[in-house]
Parts: sequence; structure tokens; C-alpha cells
Amino acid sequence: MSVTPLRPAAAAPIHRRTTSSALLQKKLDRQPISAMTAYDYPSARLVDEAGIDIVLVGDSLGMVVLGYENTLPVTLDEMLHHTRAVARAVRHAFLVADMPYGSYHASARDAVRNGLRFIKEAGAQAVKIEGGSTRGKLVRRLTEAEVPVVGHIGLTPQSVHSMGGYRVQGKSLAAYERLSADAQALEEAGVIALVLEGIPRELAASITAHCSIPTIGIGAGPECDGQILVFHDLFNLTFSQPAKFSRQYADGAAFFASALKRYRDDVTARRFPNDAESYHLPREVLAALEAAQPRARKA
Ligand code: KIV
Repeated sequence: MSVTPLRPAAAAPIHRRTTSSALLQKKLDRQPISAMTAYDYPSARLVDEAGIDIVLVGDSLGMVVLGYENTLPVTLDEMLHHTRAVARAVRHAFLVADMPYGSYHASARDAVRNGLRFIKEAGAQAVKIEGGSTRGKLVRRLTEAEVPVVGHIGLTPQSVHSMGGYRVQGKSLAAYERLSADAQALEEAGVIALVLEGIPRELAASITAHCSIPTIGIGAGPECDGQILVFHDLFNLTFSQPAKFSRQYADGAAFFASALKRYRDDVTARRFPNDAESYHLPREVLAALEAAQPRARKA
């Protein structure tokens, strides 16, 4: 297959990229921030060229791309590999990468070393870590090391075992107050934005009103400063029941399945490839072969 690149795959000059201050300005101007996950070069090109503000290389890739049962087995190397591919595609969006489970839990020293790899080796502009006020100290350490951090509270998939499953968080008064305090602690620690996942709309609205950093919601209602969805959810490519909060904008599974079936049928019926899709010998080589054939027969 020959592919004509529309533009070179080099990283975009930094001055043309969306910055954390541009995202903050959007919050101040009350302009909604759009965010989407991407895990490879083509999906990142599509997301970036659609003008989406933030591209997140989420560790959800463990489930939607690598086929793991949850996000826990995702490794640092897998995240770095996919982040590099996405970074080669993104020219405008702000690029955030998830630090996977285990890469920031053992020691602050390891976390900083791992966080630096996302910025230095993989081209991310910030990393995202899950957890509330207990992560405050680590956010400070990463920020001091010039690793900008996006926080993530509420339904945090890396805590699936301690949460007892994927459940909406913050529904009791105590949990509401705990998550509000988490948001405040993370902001004070220096996060540049906060993902709010799987929490009641009212709680997300209150955190958004009280925080001076942008909030990005997923399953957190419309009052957040921005919204994020998982690429494969948007295109019905997860082979599972969609969550209540996710909206399918296209049926990618049906689209791909129909194209693949037509391809299989064409191959089976010898309709693919046709002559126009085939290469030919130059006329003089054909003529030489034809001239040689009678001699070959005689011998
Ligand atoms: O991993 C991911 O895709 C995420 C988003 C759902 C926010 O963390």
C-alpha cells in the first residue's frame, strides 16, 4: 500500500501547541474544553485534526486496545510506546499521558523518574495520576521536577479493587465532602487540571465552581469546564455495553465489519484485485518473454 503523507510526522513546534495556560484561559472565558483519548498515530491524527483541545493517552488502552480485563496490567513501557506514537501525530492539542498503575505508587523517586520519561522521551506535555489528597505530596514533587500533573478523582479505575468495582463515587454526604476536599488539596498541590470521573453532576458542578483550574468530566455532568470520552466508546469499538454517560457518535464496529465482509467476499469471488489494481511487466519484457517461449517449448 502506498501512503502519501499529508505532512511530515515530526513533532509540532511547541509555540503552536495548546498549552496549560490556554486551557486555563478557556475556563476563565467559559469556553468548554474538548478532550478525547487516542492511543496510536491514526486515531491521534483524527482527534488532533478535529480541533480537540486535549489528547489523553489513557491507560484505558489496556482494555480497549490491548484486551486486558482492566487497566492494572498496563506497563510503563506500553504507555511510553503508545504515547510516542500519539506524539508523532499531534500538532495542536495538549498531550497528556496516563502514568500506569504501579509507576507512581512505590516511591516518589521512582514516580518522578517515570514521569520525566513521559515528557522527555515520549513527548507528553503533562502526566495524569489517579487519587485524591494522598497524592498531594507527589504532585508537588512532580511539579518541582517540571512534570506538569493532571489529577483524576472520583471513579478511579486503578482503584477498581479497593472501590469494589466500577461504581459512581461521591454519592453520600461524607463521600461528597471527601471528594471536594480532594479537589482542593490537588489544586493546592499544583495540578494543572482535574479529571472528574463517575461522580454526581451536582458534586462536579460544585468542584468546578470552587476550583480555579479546569475540570474535565467523564460521567460527571455538563457543568464541568470540559468533557472527555474514550475514542473506542465514541465509535462503538469496545465490544461491550456502553456506559450510561458515553454517547456513540458513529457505529465504527458496523462500518468496519461491513467493509471487512465485502473484502472477504471480493477475495473469495476473485473480484479483488482487478487489473487496475495489478502491476504489469513493461511491454518490451513481455515481448521478449513471448519471443522466448517457442524456443523454450522446442528445447
Ligand atoms: O484512561 C483513560 O482513558 C482515562 C479517561 C477515561 C479520563 O483516564
